[in-house]
Amino acid sequence: MPTHFQQPTSRTNLPINAARLWADVMSLAEITDPARPYTRRSFTALFLEGRAWLTQRFVEAGLSTRIDAAGNLIGRIEGRHPTLGVIAIGSHCDTVPAGGRFDGIAGVAAGLEIIRALRETNTRLNHTIEIIDFLAEEPSEYGLSCVGSRGMTGALEGKMLDLTEPGGEKLCDALRRVGGDPDRLAQARRNDIRAFLELHIEQGIVLESRLLDVGIVTSIVGIRRIEIVFQGEADHAGTTPMELRHDALVAASNTVVSVRRAAEQLAAEEGYFVATVGILTVDPSASNIVPGQCRLVIDARTTEPTLTRRFVEIIEQESAEHAAAARVTRASFTTLSDSKPVACDAHLRSALRRGASDLGLADTDLPSGAGHDAAFMSRICPSAMVFVPCRGGKSHAPEEWADREAIAAGTAVVYQAVKALDQSLARSA
Ligand code: GLV
Ligand code: MN
Ligand code: MN
Repeated sequence: MPTHFQQPTSRTNLPINAARLWADVMSLAEITDPARPYTRRSFTALFLEGRAWLTQRFVEAGLSTRIDAAGNLIGRIEGRHPTLGVIAIGSHCDTVPAGGRFDGIAGVAAGLEIIRALRETNTRLNHTIEIIDFLAEEPSEYGLSCVGSRGMTGALEGKMLDLTEPGGEKLCDALRRVGGDPDRLAQARRNDIRAFLELHIEQGIVLESRLLDVGIVTSIVGIRRIEIVFQGEADHAGTTPMELRHDALVAASNTVVSVRRAAEQLAAEEGYFVATVGILTVDPSASNIVPGQCRLVIDARTTEPTLTRRFVEIIEQESAEHAAAARVTRASFTTLSDSKPVACDAHLRSALRRGASDLGLADTDLPSGAGHDAAFMSRICPSAMVFVPCRGGKSHAPEEWADREAIAAGTAVVYQAVKALDQSLARSA
């Protein structure tokens, strides 16, 4: 990992206000769990505080604001020809536990700054513009990611609304609590968006290592999340002989090893493949009790759905074998979510590329190994993304960092693309 963060040439004549944009990112970062920066988990009181702050900024920027049935916060400014439809810009302001200040937030702040820049230059676009803060992009305590963008694109299935967090609350009730309406989800579904653009930190080191200003995203990985529960028997750790144990953690641990081995094998093939066990819970979790129940969640990502299919076959078989060997049952093997890899839209990508070159910024094409709301939005409208460099590629950690100039440059590229798309989409309407 590089020891210092070298930025490409600093840009001073961008069509947006870098200081104001930066102030927004830093202000939102202050709304965090102080004991665990930077944590603003979706559906929590802190999340709602962040949203209230953001709503205020939207209103100050002259946007009319609302929360749709899928819990997305939307700011809107009418275009000169509303029948042309909407150009939308957005990302998310929730974080992972102990995450960073930029993942998602930079994209929402970019949208807000673009609106202000348009207003200050008295630029009224043909299209209506919307800024969207999508609900719960990160996997939430309900086991689901991209709740808002799924809802907006018709991918929030009824059974997902019954997902329950450890405290017992259902996702549908949580959605109501944050201003959504699970009974009217169809109303969140959109058919009027003509283009969607999302700025995001790269969460990798390609741009930094090549001293590039922006990445134009070519494709976004598909993500499958699988939950496995092993049921054994909780017993006294001192008095239960080894041959009489039903230890759920033994089956779970061997499954973690299987995930690693299968992923390494598939990663060596054509296409991108990675898999992770990031959640492993042990019940009752006491040093003197044989583990009675274990739950693990696997996150598998790929550009090639056939690799995921093969991975699931291997894990289904091996986890059953590990359960039998440990004399426990595999109580469940559940697909929590399964999103397909998507390609970003060629017309939008070329508008972004032209925006970068007009501003004298250095760009490259690159794929995204992280999931994004743009992947769901591509189901209903042409969608594309701009990546900006982040230090050491570090993300989902408090050390996550992107320079003020880097975010400003990426935002300026989106600004240019929005103005160009407003013309080209109007012409082709
Ligand atoms: C989103 O942060 C992801 O999990 O890729
Ligand atoms: Mn993230
Ligand atoms: Mn993100």
